[in-house]
Amino acid sequence: MSAHQNLRILFADDEKSLQEFMRSELPRLGHEVTVCADGRAAVKALEKNFFDAAILDLRMPGLTGIEVLGQLKQIAPETEAVVMTGHASMETAIEAVRLGAFDYITKPCKLTEIEAVLNKVAEKRDLKHKNLALQSRVQAAEGPSVLVGDSAAMKGVHRLIGTVAPTESTVLILGETGTGKELAARTLYQQSKRKDMPFVPVNCGALSENLVESELFGHRKGSFTSADRDHKGLFEVANGGTLFLDEVGELNKNIQVKLLRFLESGEIRRVGETEPFRTDVRILCATNCDLRTMIREDQFREDLYFRINTFEIRLPPLRERRADIPDLARHLLARAARRPVDQVANLLTPEAVDALLEHDWPGNVRELLNVMEHAYIIAGGKTITPEDLPHHLRGGAGPATLPLKHPLESSLQAGDARSRWITSSASWTSTAATSPPPPPSSASSSRPSIIS
Ligand SMILES: Nc1ncnc2c1ncn2[C@@H]1O[C@H](COP(=O)(O)OP(=O)(O)OP(=O)(O)O)[C@@H](O)[C@H]1O
Ligand SMILES: [Mg+2]
Repeated sequence: MSAHQNLRILFADDEKSLQEFMRSELPRLGHEVTVCADGRAAVKALEKNFFDAAILDLRMPGLTGIEVLGQLKQIAPETEAVVMTGHASMETAIEAVRLGAFDYITKPCKLTEIEAVLNKVAEKRDLKHKNLALQSRVQAAEGPSVLVGDSAAMKGVHRLIGTVAPTESTVLILGETGTGKELAARTLYQQSKRKDMPFVPVNCGALSENLVESELFGHRKGSFTSADRDHKGLFEVANGGTLFLDEVGELNKNIQVKLLRFLESGEIRRVGETEPFRTDVRILCATNCDLRTMIREDQFREDLYFRINTFEIRLPPLRERRADIPDLARHLLARAARRPVDQVANLLTPEAVDALLEHDWPGNVRELLNVMEHAYIIAGGKTITPEDLPHHLRGGAGPATLPLKHPLESSLQAGDARSRWITSSASWTSTAATSPPPPPSSASSSRPSIIS
């Protein structure tokens, strides 16, 4: 998150005393260091592992610093090279910068100087990540990321998000399809200390079985047939930020082990690399699967479940928070119309709101979004009546679940009044005529379960 995050550093110099100095001082500054005594060993190390920075002496046995720099540009172009030089070879140092070195340091090296250069490397890396964060925010901007709803159940969800967001805790978000799990994850991230760093969403179910490990953890060039270049995994892309593992139940057992290892040690290993390395990522997970059943059926690791479930947020289905429907409908209508909510709110007639309240919403908020898009188009941007809703939402559909008309209905004007009334009268639902009131879906169902 800060520019002082640990870097993975390769240090190459034949001078023993300097090697010892770096071995002890760089870790003290919070970095990981690999020391090499000559140019060839440095190239080998660059081939095997990823480094954020390579500090290269210009005069080394085997290959010179300039030669190593040339190879680095080929095999590890994302590694920032810093060359070290005596006063006598300043021209070579300048040549190195012209060839793409990030900076140079003059010998004898002072720790403060090294620290300053490394801070610049970290800042550059952070800037890259911030850029990514910005991009992901732009991509997400097609829908306003406001988690709408102030029913008792959603108040509980907002409270939980507010509590866990500023921590570093792993969070598991549960809920039926379309209930807003991804939106809840984004909301949590936006309230977290990592909000200026990347938010990287991954749909685990969409990753191909063969490539899932390399997609998540990255790979080294040549580690398998089609690996023709180094590849950064999503854990690295998200470094300093947040990785959202959507449909986490879809990860295979092999990847589950690797995810568990990361959660326990903070380390990952690229495919084809020998050394693991640390990465600073907060994990948020979501699923609509029943992970406990999957554990019983030996499809999900119990130890991983306990790790990701440190804090649990359960998004209630829409049918259990009908009080949110009018507000959500207006919000989603505004989204369909690409206009502010207050400009579209009165387009929704009370009769249309009634029809929405009577539906059971198996597809939850996503289904409501589709319905509002449909209605907006059918109504041609004008007032929406029940006739503009999809057929299955109009009066004729599912008579068994039609509600008793509420006595106050005629006096209710717009949806606002209706939503206020329903909020204060929790026992009335669309199925009130035929079934008992639904179980209360309050904060108690989304209570955090602190396990470790
Ligand atoms: N409370 C809410 N307020 C506003 N929009 C919402 C809300 N909940 C969901 N949405 C919208 O509904 C759609 C579906 O939400 P989202 O993708 O977060 O659901 P999900 O639970 O992740 O679904 P799935 O299980 O299918 O992946 C999105 O377009 C989202 O912006
Ligand atoms: Mg989702």
